[in-house]
Amino acid sequence: FQPKLLAGKRVLITAGPTYEAIDPVRGITNLSSGKMGYAIARAAREAGAEVTLVSGPTALPTPHGVRRIDVQSARQMLDAVMQAVGGQHVFVGVAAVADWRVDNASDQKIKKDGSGDAPQLQFAENPDILASVAATTSLSGWPYCVGFAAESENLIEYGAVKREKKGIPLLVGNIGPQTFGQDENAIVLFDESGHTVLPRATKLELARQLVSEIAKRLERRSLL
Ligand code: C5P
Repeated sequence: FQPKLLAGKRVLITAGPTYEAIDPVRGITNLSSGKMGYAIARAAREAGAEVTLVSGPTALPTPHGVRRIDVQSARQMLDAVMQAVGGQHVFVGVAAVADWRVDNASDQKIKKDGSGDAPQLQFAENPDILASVAATTSLSGWPYCVGFAAESENLIEYGAVKREKKGIPLLVGNIGPQTFGQDENAIVLFDESGHTVLPRATKLELARQLVSEIAKRLERRSLL
């Protein structure tokens, strides 16, 4: 009998894009499909964890046995994450959170006024959800925080720097944005001892490998 790798563990995951409203019918989003985050939710559940998935708008079905909380904006995602984070053993931030939201969003649909002038959007920086969770970690040591980074170049160099900057033990790099919407990916894991490449495979296979890498590190940590 092989006990499941994450039996008795609670795992919180963000996935998908965020949607930042311009007015009630228009908004700004990005090309994240949510596939990688949903695959990790499924793999963590298969490994015996109790999984909460905070998801931006996606077209994906909820993985079996996973509790899913739907949100649209980055601020809604932050609220949902902060409400759910107590008692979690692992936090995996996979969502492609919009860096900016529209600060002067309109309550009513913006109309063309015939003048030929386009509306002027103003932007405000969104909160960094992963950094907010990582900041709570410094008190209790939990949850174990895993971040993602999509870089278009110099992944190895940027990945290590980003892990340090985010103040997290494990960062997963992928070469984006080519991977968006695809069923396959290749990832690089960055931790305090360097980096490990997980070669091209389906997102579900990579998710299962990542879950086992996380479980290994949790075990190491609880032995310390
Ligand atoms: O800094 P960058 O956006 O590249 O970092 C990506 C990582 O940070 C991902 O894990 C993503 O989910 C998380 N993130 C976040 N909130 C933001 C921006 C990024 O949680 N506002």
